[in-house]
Amino acid sequence: MSTLHVEELDDRVVVTLRRPEARNAINAAMVGELHDVCAAVEREPRLLLITGDGGTFAAGADIGELRERGREQALQGINSRLFDRLARLPLPTVAAVDGYALGGGAELAYACDVRLASPAAVFGNPEPGLGILAAAGACWRLRELVGASVAKQVLLAGRRLDAGDALRFGLVAEVVPAEDLLQRAHSLLDRMTRSGALALRLTKLVADGHGHPLTDDLAQAILFESEEKRVRMDAFLGGSRS
Ligand code: COA
Repeated sequence: MSTLHVEELDDRVVVTLRRPEARNAINAAMVGELHDVCAAVEREPRLLLITGDGGTFAAGADIGELRERGREQALQGINSRLFDRLARLPLPTVAAVDGYALGGGAELAYACDVRLASPAAVFGNPEPGLGILAAAGACWRLRELVGASVAKQVLLAGRRLDAGDALRFGLVAEVVPAEDLLQRAHSLLDRMTRSGALALRLTKLVADGHGHPLTDDLAQAILFESEEKRVRMDAFLGGSRS
């Protein structure tokens, strides 16, 4: 892959955005390669960790490419469809954000289930400054993550959220020194792997749905019949707890 470094492990895939000449800006090649990663994770469900190389998460969509795009390309939802696909991956996704996560880079992080940040992390959506809107999820995902007031400060007033802001507003789970960021993200993924994989998968599906008691009951019905539930509960009742 030319824009990503991808490490495929048994229980997780680690993706590092790597376009040092453009602060990891998301171009068409990167979109294609991220789709390839999504396809691999859909085929063989694993956790996903996304980070950026060189002290930047991603400085947005590639502005050189954006400049040449017109209505047809906007309607194709080039980034929004990728981020929706990413958000719907079967198992949890984590973004480890060091440095700038701007524009589409921020939207990529918003599409993940959990975000961790280094003290240098900066989230922002400067799209209106370029005469466009943040159309790959920021207008609604950011609002879901931090509420309308903060989201509108970011979207309408160009406010950048530093790591402290991001922690205070709940956008990131934790701020850890850059040198510990990946290790902490892996520890978080380790914790996730200790859960039942099907339970994790169905919890994500139900939590991301629009909420209905019926879906909760149906998902629980599947889990109540699973061998894994019996094994895990027997282990608990037998005194062995993980
Ligand atoms: N698209 C294309 N190229 C980008 C880019 C983007 N989104 N962001 C950075 N680059 C390129 C710069 O053009 C520059 O290229 P050059 O060396 O050929 O001139 C290189 O990456 C380094 O960027 P530079 O601005 O010199 O780095 P910096 O450390 O001073 O600033 C940022 C970093 C992220 C603050 C700044 O690059 C920036 O504001 N980028 C655009 C952010 C943005 O508006 N994103 C929304 C896009 S929808």
